[in-house]
Amino acid sequence: MGRAQKMVTLDEITELCTRRGFFYQTGKIYGGLSGFYDYGPLGVDLMKNILDDWWWYFVERRDDIYGLSGSIITHPKVWEASGHVESFIDYIVVCQKCGTEYRADHLLEDLGVKVEQYTLEGIKTLLRSHNVRCPACGGELSEPRAFNLMFSTNLGPKKSPPFIVYLRPETAQLIFVNFKNVVFSMGATLPFGIAQYGKAFRNEISPRNFLFRLREFIQMEIEYFVNPKKLNDCPYFDEIKDIEINLLSAEDQEKGLEQARKIKVEDAVTSGLIGSEWHAYWIAESLRWLWRIGLSPQNLRVREHIKSELAHYAQQTFDVEYYFPYMGWKEIEGISNRTDFDLRRHQEHSGEPLHIVDDGEKVIPYVIEPSFGLERIILAVLTEAYTIEEKRTYLRLKPRIAPFKVAVFPLVKRDGLDTLARKIYNELRDRFRAYYDEDGSIGKRYAKADEIGVPFCVTVDGQTATDGTVTVRYRDTRQQVRVPREHLAELLHNGIEEKS
Ligand code: ATP
Ligand code: GLY
Repeated sequence: MGRAQKMVTLDEITELCTRRGFFYQTGKIYGGLSGFYDYGPLGVDLMKNILDDWWWYFVERRDDIYGLSGSIITHPKVWEASGHVESFIDYIVVCQKCGTEYRADHLLEDLGVKVEQYTLEGIKTLLRSHNVRCPACGGELSEPRAFNLMFSTNLGPKKSPPFIVYLRPETAQLIFVNFKNVVFSMGATLPFGIAQYGKAFRNEISPRNFLFRLREFIQMEIEYFVNPKKLNDCPYFDEIKDIEINLLSAEDQEKGLEQARKIKVEDAVTSGLIGSEWHAYWIAESLRWLWRIGLSPQNLRVREHIKSELAHYAQQTFDVEYYFPYMGWKEIEGISNRTDFDLRRHQEHSGEPLHIVDDGEKVIPYVIEPSFGLERIILAVLTEAYTIEEKRTYLRLKPRIAPFKVAVFPLVKRDGLDTLARKIYNELRDRFRAYYDEDGSIGKRYAKADEIGVPFCVTVDGQTATDGTVTVRYRDTRQQVRVPREHLAELLHNGIEEKS
């Protein structure tokens, strides 16, 4: 049974997600809000499974990472110190005729123009030299201006002057401002990390591409603190040094190359392409987790930021990009060396000492930060899983993240098969996320289970009543095997926890 060649489109994924209850546009009955989606019943389970797996992989099974969950509305001084009030901006242009707003660099990129200088002057020059006009109506565009992406609101009832606070545009700052608390409560010593997942908010100028560019989304971030003198002293380096990655360096991009090279992590460090062992370790460890949840190595590449792309806090950044067949290589995770920028700035602005003692010396640690975006990862996972075959469409989700692990069906809704099937379903659902379905033909029930990515279907038929066996159908191969009822739980457990 060969995999079909047809590539999935973003429209097909969006349609499936809405019809089957993964995502709904928020407030759709009132016309919707651009850049906001609600998770539906299946989406919530998918979200939870990915977050739980991330937490297990990066926090629970390790002893050097602590968890945190900070507040969403944060003291404004946090964002002044972090540089977001001043620098967290994009450039906006507005059509003078129809009023449509555009993010200037995206407008240029859509026309195939490379934005090398991400500054007001750089953008202005490119817009002029390419005579860019409104793609919707051909109208003239305004001059570009800087637009801060943070959402703000008023705290409390006081109106004059109002107390302006911000919704966090990244979860990271909550970790930095709690650094000293965690060191104190947990007795943390270098090197160690703090992990957090939760909502982040950005007032994107033009949200688009379904889940890709949202105004409210979930980040999963780790700030990993290392003595700056020990960036090349990673005790786990041996575990990952032989992993091969697809790397596109800044230098190669500056030479006009677009093709990533395959290189071993160790070679990328010794040749200086990746700045340190710790940075390389977090790149490799991120990839290993992304593979674990179903993204294939050939669809992932690690692209270094060129100088003009670097965020105000970053010394070196690599984006993990996924190849979306309908929009090309796009960032799903950023992994930055943020140096001691954030802790130093918070120390200066708050007056609180934010050092830690390591080897008898006071140090402000450097930070390596893997920053994942959940919805972009979900979009990648769904894109990878969406499989179109001649006679059916199905989601090849890894069983460990699939919303439902098993569906239980009576072959027909009579002869006591429904009662027996319900009994088996009731036994299974204590341990596995399961659903029961007795309506319509068995073929239709399999087709629905395939479409929502259920890895295993259990069918109860006449033989079950006589010899206690059921049929297990495997989603990807459609293979059916008869197994004794009492072996079901073990079979499902092994199928979900497959090694990878
Ligand atoms: P882009 O260049 O696409 O705007 P970014 O460089 O601003 O992305 P980061 O600031 O590095 O993104 O954010 C870290 C992660 O958070 C990203 O890799 C992405 O997965 C997620 N993320 C950022 N902005 C959005 C958004 N508007 N919608 C959904 N996810 C986002
Ligand atoms: N914390 C990295 C980012 O959100 O950009």
